[in-house]
Amino acid sequence: MKVLVVGSGGREHAICTAVAKSKRVDKIYCAPGNAGIAALAECVPIGAMEFEKLVAFAKEKAIDFTIIGMDDPLVGGIVDLFEAEGLKVFGPRKNAAILEGSKAFSKDLMKKYHIPTAAYENFTDPEAALKYLETAKMPIVLKADGLALGKGVLICNTLEEAKAGVKEIMEDKKFGSAGNTMVIEEFMTGREVSVLSFVDGKTIQIMDSAQDHKRAGDGDTGLNTGGMGNFSPSPFYTEEVDRFCQEKIFQPTVDAMAAEGRPFKGVIFFGLMLTEEGPKVLEYNARFGDPEAQVVLPRLKNDIIDVMEACVDGTLDTIKIEFEDRATVCVVLASDGYPVAYEKGKVITGLENFEGKEDYYCFHAGTKFDEKGNVVTNGGRVLGITATADTLKEARAKAYEATEWVQFDNKYMRHDIGKAIDEA
Ligand code: AMP
Ligand code: GLY
Repeated sequence: MKVLVVGSGGREHAICTAVAKSKRVDKIYCAPGNAGIAALAECVPIGAMEFEKLVAFAKEKAIDFTIIGMDDPLVGGIVDLFEAEGLKVFGPRKNAAILEGSKAFSKDLMKKYHIPTAAYENFTDPEAALKYLETAKMPIVLKADGLALGKGVLICNTLEEAKAGVKEIMEDKKFGSAGNTMVIEEFMTGREVSVLSFVDGKTIQIMDSAQDHKRAGDGDTGLNTGGMGNFSPSPFYTEEVDRFCQEKIFQPTVDAMAAEGRPFKGVIFFGLMLTEEGPKVLEYNARFGDPEAQVVLPRLKNDIIDVMEACVDGTLDTIKIEFEDRATVCVVLASDGYPVAYEKGKVITGLENFEGKEDYYCFHAGTKFDEKGNVVTNGGRVLGITATADTLKEARAKAYEATEWVQFDNKYMRHDIGKAIDEA
């Protein structure tokens, strides 16, 4: 069969790598893809938000199955459009992708269905938000309602910071219309864990847990990024935590969406905080994480197309999802200056060092070919250097070893990805 993957990051490279392993797939297209994906798929120069062009392409090439990797097209309703044309597509419809697309929606859903999360209020009026803050306990968390590349969350230690935050989000519109509505949320403390899951509208099966490293600098300093690296599974995601989450968070979320007439099909990524009162939801995403996909998918034993098709068909209960009992670590190589300002177009050398090396993956995030055919940097996050091993410690050592195999000007990485492994 012919598969189209929509997106261009490390996540989509990991998805294409899993799809390429499927015995059922003869041909993969990726729109728009990147220089690494080009080794597995035919990259087509159509942007992820060019819905009409994507639909036309899928029809022209008689694509059997389309996988949407990114949040923006999902929230924008790409799945509805594909379905209306009779095309089979993996991902939530617009009315379900809102689980990620609106934090106010997701908070209200959790409140209504008693799913554990931080206490909060939603605001559309900055004056009301400022008034609320006067009597609120600090630190406090401000969240722009809509998509903001993971950057629309401000943790404020003082009332002054919080007031400035309201101005940034709601008045200066630092995150654009994402800030028309704002959530003000109680500050929680604890360890963060991400859990990815496949969902078919009623059944949910979780994949492995992972731990992200969102800040740009070592020791969790600096600005929030899309993610500078991660490891999977998380040793803090114990059986006890799993039992609690299955009962109080995972299935209840899927049931709540169904009860609201918004059945969710696709991947739900649960961002959890393990607080003293138990696990609570920080956020939902309606797709694989990036780089969560890079540390989870390499260990998936099933044919990914079988699983994804079951999600679309509503037959996930007939499939047993299995993962290799090993560990994976991903260290992101970024362009120095990410997530603010950075240069692009730097030639990347050493990529051939990954060829034929079992357990090592070099997932491309922001790369492209220049006119001479060199692979060059084309984004803030450039490569996700990933290694799998029997233990997390070994996987971390291997991933860091492999970060030395590739070079480019302004190469930047965190040196403490997986430090928490030593505390487990
Ligand atoms: P989110 O995009 O909602 O996951 O938020 C980004 C990051 O902000 C999270 O990964 C947490 O580190 C932090 N964060 C979000 N909400 C809270 C909260 N209520 N309390 C403490 N930290 C939070
Ligand atoms: N790594 C976090 C995300 O994909 O949202």
